[in-house]
Amino acid sequence: MKNLIAMIALTLSANSFAAPKAQWLTVDNDVLAKIRPKLNKSVQTLFSAQGASVVKLSAEEVEKLSAVIHDELHRCGGFITHETFEEAQSALSFQGDMYFAKKAVFTDYSIDQASLVAPLVAQVDEPSIRSMIEKLASFNTRFYKSETGVKSSEFIRDTWADLAKNRNDVKVELVQHKNWPQASIVMTIQGSEKSEEIVIVGGHADSIAGMFGGAGRAPGADDNASGIATITEVIKVLMANDYKPKRTVQFMGYAAEEVGLLGSKDIAASYKAKGANVIGVMQLDMTLNKGSADQDIVMMSDFTNGAQNEFLGKLIDEYVKVKWGYSRCGYGCSDHASWTANGYPASIPFESTMEDINHKIHTANDTLQNAGGDAKHAAKFAKLATAFVVELAN
Ligand code: BES
Ligand code: ZN
Repeated sequence: MKNLIAMIALTLSANSFAAPKAQWLTVDNDVLAKIRPKLNKSVQTLFSAQGASVVKLSAEEVEKLSAVIHDELHRCGGFITHETFEEAQSALSFQGDMYFAKKAVFTDYSIDQASLVAPLVAQVDEPSIRSMIEKLASFNTRFYKSETGVKSSEFIRDTWADLAKNRNDVKVELVQHKNWPQASIVMTIQGSEKSEEIVIVGGHADSIAGMFGGAGRAPGADDNASGIATITEVIKVLMANDYKPKRTVQFMGYAAEEVGLLGSKDIAASYKAKGANVIGVMQLDMTLNKGSADQDIVMMSDFTNGAQNEFLGKLIDEYVKVKWGYSRCGYGCSDHASWTANGYPASIPFESTMEDINHKIHTANDTLQNAGGDAKHAAKFAKLATAFVVELAN
């Protein structure tokens, strides 16, 4: 934990902290190639794996590296520091992208957009979230292989496109997958200044019930009509205010999550293959059922980025003003894990701790009525996601 804090401090703002000792660094090969000519002496690669290298730098060189990355590549961090060569080597050998996605600091997490965020957050409206949950849950099933599963994704596409109908810098697309009929949904708000940097808020669009999922009723109100309705509310508020981000913002509804994160795996792998610069991912999967009496928003600490999780905590304190804490899934329980596995920073603010989960999910009884009958809990997540988008994308 100490190391992590030191690393975050170092990567966030190299200038405002005492100079560190000589360090072993793991650096992405692309970043290394670009910064090598800018460093005074030649930097020897000590070990390479998973598209990254271990290098040893002095304290001053670490500061220089940080400054060069900031000035040349217009990003923060981009490397991880380690106390020994062995630690750096094993980070690359055994965990690679996953390790990087969890430990690196991908952007500047300062909170400085209150004049924009506060009025938007105030417009989040519980009844419209509830209404979208009801519409999604009224599809017999959103199972990835079913006809209504295909139709429900088209319905989400149409809903989002309608909210963006007055904007020519926004597009809404279905992303087809090779091995099953249900499409994922991707909405893109083109950034006005730093469009190559991408902020993503997503959730899964499919539902499942029973062992084989296909035939029976699968309303999936909590899992995950709630996440899609939460995202839809964020889109509604942003579009109603004609919000124009500096960075590119994408909203995603993933197909086929319930059968192994399939849609998000496809998309995250394609982003990695094209070298997309995703600086933040939020997963909204289950926002409806307030399961824990003493906590409102619970961040899963595994398969997620530590620095971004802490940032979400600060956003909650600043803009949502509800109780939050941490829990663990214990496995890659939702689409955030697909982004983490591909080297991108992801978080999943969740409706309860793992101990207090809604046991009606994956059954015909996952309904709005059985989760409290209103979307008050989901509204907290819509406020958080709105703040996340605007603070990161501006
Ligand atoms: N929404 C759940 C994940 C979840 C459930 C998180 C309970 C926290 C508490 C998700 O839709 C799901 O069902 N995931 C699968 C795993 C996936 C790899 C198929 C699961 O948890 O079994
Ligand atoms: Zn599920």
